[in-house]
Amino acid sequence: MSRSDAAEMILVLDFGGQYNQLIARRVRENHVYCEVYPHTLSLDRIRELAPRGIILTGGPNSVYGQGAVTAPKELFSLGIPVLGICYGAQLMAHLCGGRVETAPTSEYGKTEVDITDKASLLFDGIPTKNICWMSHTDYISVLPTRFHTTANTPVCPIAAMENPAEGLYAVQFHPEVMHTEHGTEILRNFVYHVCKCMGTWRMDSFVQKAIEELRKKIGTGRALCALSGGVDSSVAAVLLSKAIGSQLTCVFVDHGLLRKDEGDEVEAVFGTSGTYDVNFIRINARDRFYAKLKGVTEPEAKRKIIGEEFIRVFEEAAHEIGAVDFLVQGTIYPDVIESGLGKSAVIKSHHNVGGLPDHVDFKEIVEPLRLLFKDEVRAAGRELGVPDDLVDRQPFPGPGLGIRIIGEVTAEKVHIVQEADAIYREEIAKAGLQKNLGQYFAALTNMRSVGVMGDGRTYDYAIVLRAVETSDFMTAEAAQLPWEILSRVTTRIVNEVRGVNRVLYDCTGKPPATIELE
Ligand code: XMP
Repeated sequence: MSRSDAAEMILVLDFGGQYNQLIARRVRENHVYCEVYPHTLSLDRIRELAPRGIILTGGPNSVYGQGAVTAPKELFSLGIPVLGICYGAQLMAHLCGGRVETAPTSEYGKTEVDITDKASLLFDGIPTKNICWMSHTDYISVLPTRFHTTANTPVCPIAAMENPAEGLYAVQFHPEVMHTEHGTEILRNFVYHVCKCMGTWRMDSFVQKAIEELRKKIGTGRALCALSGGVDSSVAAVLLSKAIGSQLTCVFVDHGLLRKDEGDEVEAVFGTSGTYDVNFIRINARDRFYAKLKGVTEPEAKRKIIGEEFIRVFEEAAHEIGAVDFLVQGTIYPDVIESGLGKSAVIKSHHNVGGLPDHVDFKEIVEPLRLLFKDEVRAAGRELGVPDDLVDRQPFPGPGLGIRIIGEVTAEKVHIVQEADAIYREEIAKAGLQKNLGQYFAALTNMRSVGVMGDGRTYDYAIVLRAVETSDFMTAEAAQLPWEILSRVTTRIVNEVRGVNRVLYDCTGKPPATIELE
């Protein structure tokens, strides 16, 4: 997908806000293509991109603070409509001649906003009083010339302002977050009423154009794809297979840390008896991974070993295949956006199948999904006819069950957790609960405890069941599963899985816990 395919585009300039991805998602949900760029994007590049509208995100700074991130004044006289959100609103006020100050009272959370200008295109069809999400300490104290106030709150006299003649709009609140009652409509009003977009962004056109582009780019060349069986790499592989068929080789490294039967399921879809015209190589590297993990108990050490070993196995396979022209990566848009942002503390070193190997001989990388959000990847997968159970698959981490077994990984423990997890997933599916759960799985604690089975004493492992509700996987709440399901799963696990005599349910949210146990 290139810019030329999206005749109408909204540009989001990122000033370091927490919700920049959400803005882009909300715009795309309105069928308008949208890309996020750093706030340092040059005016020339903006002119080249010729967006229909520009959105300035929130950010942690003060417009008058030292080292404040800013934008050139000329941004507001390009003849392109601009919507400033939170920090973006303050920046607009500041650069257009208004004033921004620290408010005597900060405003955080849900706030009732009063819309004072019923004629504003931005608030078309929005009730006069509505709840918006505020998160600011600074506020616009003096309007720039030619602007007028369009909304206020009890502590924020200019909660929204505009200069419609020049296409400049600003809101102090965050329309992109769910807590703002009519936020999506406000963004829709901006893209349709102000920017005059038509809403032509559709998944079927993405898929067709992506296939054509891949054909053009790859020609008669050969491509190599690391397949994990997860949504992203599967959809990327299918897209490539439709574009170049058997010029594609998919390498699936089975590290022995997959869920029960998962390796065979991936092979059934992509292997010789599957539906796709690709070369499929399955490497059973289980013993190699188990040997490397022997005696290792520290989570980060396990993650690093699994990640590195994965790359080594993949490199060896690539070496045997010989030089390829293109390496396919399942990178998706959140990865692209996140990798462009500042540094944050390393909680876990993530390993993704498709992480870049050093010693694979290829000329270029192709990332056909790099502009799609996860839900768009799923929609593209459906459009391509990828089986539902693959498209709707819950996320599964690159290090697999290796990080769902606390302490040392052994073949016996992998078997226990695979069996317990399969029972759990089966019962969740039977009860139809999976739709509301972001992720659910069984993990193996390193704890053994005393139990009694039949007339004998046992000293066995405890399985922990986890189920979380989340939309972004950055925060999550433990799901309140019905007791009857938990109870049935518990009975089945202790009866059917040898080596387990106790089942626990993890009631912790994220934060303070993380979703995975390691
Ligand atoms: P945590 O445990 O950090 O997980 O709350 C958040 C989400 O990320 C997934 N996860 C990973 N995914 N490679 C991945 O591709 C990894 O190394 C990895 N570690 C965690 C996790 O399953 C959850 O969806």
